[in-house]
Amino acid sequence: MPPGSARLWRFLTTTQHLPTPYSVLDIDTALLRHKQLVAATGGQLELLYAVKANADPGLLSALAQAGCGMDVASPGELRQVLSAGCPADRVSYSNPFRSREEIAFAHENGVRVFCADSPEEVLRLAAGAPGASVVLRLAHTGPGAMSPRFGCSPREAVELAALAVMHHLEVAGLCWHVGTQQKDPGQWPLACATGARVWAAIRARGAAGRLRVLNLGGGLPGTYRVPTPPLRAYACTIASAVAECFADPPVHTFLEPGRALVADAGATVSSVKAVVRRNGRIYVILDAGLWNAGLADSLYGIEYAVTALDHSLAAPTHPVMICGPTCDTLDELSVGDAYRLPVDLATGDRVVIWPTGAYCATNAAVNFNGYPPITQHTLPPTRLPP
Ligand SMILES: Cc1ncc(COP(=O)(O)O)c(C=O)c1O
Repeated sequence: MPPGSARLWRFLTTTQHLPTPYSVLDIDTALLRHKQLVAATGGQLELLYAVKANADPGLLSALAQAGCGMDVASPGELRQVLSAGCPADRVSYSNPFRSREEIAFAHENGVRVFCADSPEEVLRLAAGAPGASVVLRLAHTGPGAMSPRFGCSPREAVELAALAVMHHLEVAGLCWHVGTQQKDPGQWPLACATGARVWAAIRARGAAGRLRVLNLGGGLPGTYRVPTPPLRAYACTIASAVAECFADPPVHTFLEPGRALVADAGATVSSVKAVVRRNGRIYVILDAGLWNAGLADSLYGIEYAVTALDHSLAAPTHPVMICGPTCDTLDELSVGDAYRLPVDLATGDRVVIWPTGAYCATNAAVNFNGYPPITQHTLPPTRLPP
């Protein structure tokens, strides 16, 4: 059963009339994850939701109303969060690849905090957002995540701080991303230790004062097939690492969860197009795949769970490969040990793929092989946050 709410499961099992493929997003589950994470950090860390994970307008409004800030990657996302009611002073523009026009647009709309990891970006910021606050993004190359994340080296960060000061920007702090679906909470303490050394060096050069912004990025996990520690283990490890590494605590410490807030809030319903045998293997071809249903995280090793609807849990199963509808070798769900589906699964039967609340609706390809992007249905919040 999907890790989301009973109401999500009820929706999935009572919507046989809807044409497949489609996905469902239960905003209550995202609000619950937000509440759990705030509680687990003892209120010490402020949350900025990474909008790229799922930009549903109802979700953005509900999170903004719950007091969650937002991390945006483009003017398009900034427009979405502002119209969802999130004030600009709770927005971080944490994508360091921007044109001067994009920077100026964000600055004119009230965004004051921008990250940067190159001299070119610092200079673009100085031109497009004079006097803005810069948060320097450090690379993190530790293991445990789907991919290492970019950023500058510690030495470059110290040089960028000096450059920023020379161009009248405020050097507000540091940020990094330890990699999405990070299985090892111990990566944050490693990143914090490096960050503390870098900040001390920046201060020693007179380029900044007290650490005002420490942004610990995303990386907290959703509940996929490969198990990860509970969210509260991450929250405790991260909060202790900040306290231990930074004797003078940062004024604002942020986390930018995307996946951890919304992955478990979503599931996808798909129909079996065909079951075929090739080279001694059984392939189940679905009408939802990596491209039209945005399941492309599978390429980086995310393993979605797949369950047959309307088949008894006790039905005999056999190992299968699961493919999407396009004529493309990559359109196949990655899996460590094989998927198992009922032996009598046939054309027209429905399956649920989960959890798909993160990076699916926003990743769905527009028209690859002529398949339109998946439709996302939203279950609105039952109770609006206070
Ligand atoms: C700057 C930034 N912050 C936060 C996130 C969210 O990451 P996650 O979904 O792993 O929490 C991303 C995702 O790529 C990102 O680029």
